[in-house]
Amino acid sequence: MTEWSRYYDAVGDDPRETLLDALDRFEAPGVAADLGCGTGRDTVELLRRGWQVVAIDSEEEAIRRLRATTGEHERLSTQVAGYEDAVLPEGDLVNASWALPFCRPDIFGVVWDRIVDSIHASGRFSGQLFGYRDEWSVEDEMTFHTRAEAEALFRVFELERFEEVEEDGETVLKNPKHWHVFHVVARKL
Ligand SMILES: C[S@@+](CC[C@H](N)C(=O)[O-])C[C@H]1O[C@@H](n2cnc3c(N)ncnc32)[C@H](O)[C@@H]1O
Repeated sequence: MTEWSRYYDAVGDDPRETLLDALDRFEAPGVAADLGCGTGRDTVELLRRGWQVVAIDSEEEAIRRLRATTGEHERLSTQVAGYEDAVLPEGDLVNASWALPFCRPDIFGVVWDRIVDSIHASGRFSGQLFGYRDEWSVEDEMTFHTRAEAEALFRVFELERFEEVEEDGETVLKNPKHWHVFHVVARKL
């Protein structure tokens, strides 16, 4: 069993707050990418609200679990792909809940540029980034940002929500952890 399998077993299935915040700001459903979708808690909500969704995760198990929930669905397509190989639809929303910090730092810039390019004007990004004071920042396969670096990623966006949270808490697997997280909803200019 991989670490992600244990995470998928333990994590909840309610849609993430940042996704709900972003969705409430749209007048009508459109096309979304759910990047690092996991077992699909956000994808399911997007489908429920009438969105067309491309759900992407590097773990085959994540997509299998998502499909076990949705079955074949005319508005859903899936990709088992790493961030570097993902084919993002040109669309209205890229949702990446608790996912982008797991991108390798050497490819983060390219991945981020593709995310930005894929979003139409007035479309949105929703998701999380991790700050440098996060306990996992010793991991060199993950990406962390200062507040200024995180804000700079959204140069061509209006920040609708940019919430920095730093706190002692625990992981989904109930291990104690110091979190340093930026919760973001942003509208592309
Ligand atoms: C913390 S989980 C978040 C899952 C879901 N979005 C949620 O909010 O619960 C991070 C997800 O990112 C995926 N992931 C990690 N590294 C990835 C990569 N390089 N490319 C694509 N997906 C990746 C993992 O497989 C995992 O499902």
